[in-house]
Amino acid sequence: MTRVNFPDDFLWGAATSAYQVEGAYKAAGKGESIWDRFSSIPGHIKDGSSGKVACDHYHHFREDISLMRSLRLGAYRFSISWPRIFPQGRGIPNQPGLDFYSSLVDELLQAGIRPCITLYHWDLPQALQDRGGFSVRDCAGWFGDFANTMVRRLGDRVTFWATLNEPQIFGILGYLVGKHAPGMSDPARYFKACHFINLAHGVGVAAIRAETSRAEVGTVLQFPPIHPRSDSQQDQRAVTVMDGLMNRWYADPVLLGSYPEDMLELFSELGLPIREGDLELIHQPLDFVGLNVYSRFFARHDSRVPLLGAMLDERHCTPGGDYTDYGWEVYPEAIFESLLRLKRDYGDPAVYVTENGAAYDDPLVEGIVDDRRRIDYLRAYLLQVHRAMQQGVKVKGYFVWSLLDNFEWHEGYRMRFGLVHVDFESLRRTVKQSGFFYKRLIESGGFEN
Ligand code: FCB
Repeated sequence: MTRVNFPDDFLWGAATSAYQVEGAYKAAGKGESIWDRFSSIPGHIKDGSSGKVACDHYHHFREDISLMRSLRLGAYRFSISWPRIFPQGRGIPNQPGLDFYSSLVDELLQAGIRPCITLYHWDLPQALQDRGGFSVRDCAGWFGDFANTMVRRLGDRVTFWATLNEPQIFGILGYLVGKHAPGMSDPARYFKACHFINLAHGVGVAAIRAETSRAEVGTVLQFPPIHPRSDSQQDQRAVTVMDGLMNRWYADPVLLGSYPEDMLELFSELGLPIREGDLELIHQPLDFVGLNVYSRFFARHDSRVPLLGAMLDERHCTPGGDYTDYGWEVYPEAIFESLLRLKRDYGDPAVYVTENGAAYDDPLVEGIVDDRRRIDYLRAYLLQVHRAMQQGVKVKGYFVWSLLDNFEWHEGYRMRFGLVHVDFESLRRTVKQSGFFYKRLIESGGFEN
């Protein structure tokens, strides 16, 4: 056995997002979000549920912070519900909404837990969607105003600000594939939205910096390794294209200041809405990159897909592979590969692993959730984080997804990612064995391997 140790100042946390945990969907003047609307339409969410109540974190946040303290968390990553602050998306802020986040931050600080804010984790105000959402240029400015409002209110106490969570996932699933809110499969809109999403990040960074000089400012990317389905040249090409669509289209402008040439060429007929000055705005110095990693993806050639000629192969299973309840492959090297790529190709940024975790539906039996598979998963991925750090990647912290079992988007409540089990009838919380494992790991700064 060897000991895997992390530095003393390594930040250990857990993450959630507003729509997935807060509930209280109409409380104290909150407006409608695109997820409130999307989940109300039959057929969109597999178990017919919604985030109306979720974990009711809005009313249980004090209890949840006591739990975080009992787990010795050093940080809590959460997001802000934009329609709780601006019920119509813009205009005069809703005071109770601001007060809620202010109390959350105060309570965290009292518990010795660092509040880490992601401004946008997918719940756009429906009123802004009605004006085109991210497929219109104005959305970047609306986001900037929202960012500015939040930093003005909380910037005296919060020193970690991320702009967007996984831009490519909400862009692609929301506008191209239609699996997520706002539920569109509209390539023309997507190719506008993907640029305006990047622009919103840039405007957001400027808005945050305008209000505070003492914060760490970054973004959160899902940045998975993409492997070929076979050794064929066509599948190799598919990897380059899918990596361009999913990873480079978002990471390159933000971190390098340009869109990838090969993708610009591929999309040349589309009339992308890029204007002079946009890239300067998108590409601003960042203090960190947030990296969300769960697994790897596979790409394969598919001549039926217009323009791309390639597809992500969601159902590809490796012989002997190990899968979570979600069907996502347990592939710990994914985190190592992504971290090394950020170092190699993207200027060696400081990185927080802002999400990593697994869906396993282990039952609560006599007060205990024996989720060994989650413990094994976390150990295996953390070992790879450690390995990347030994190779010089500047990893500053790690957040488990998620603190609580919660509303897993179009999957509903069936996918349980929490360190803490939630009974969605009684809303009772029970720390799982993985929660206790994580607590011991934090207390001792590492684990035996
Ligand atoms: C990520 C999302 C997060 C959660 C996990 C399982 O893509 O950022 O909200 O759904 O997947």
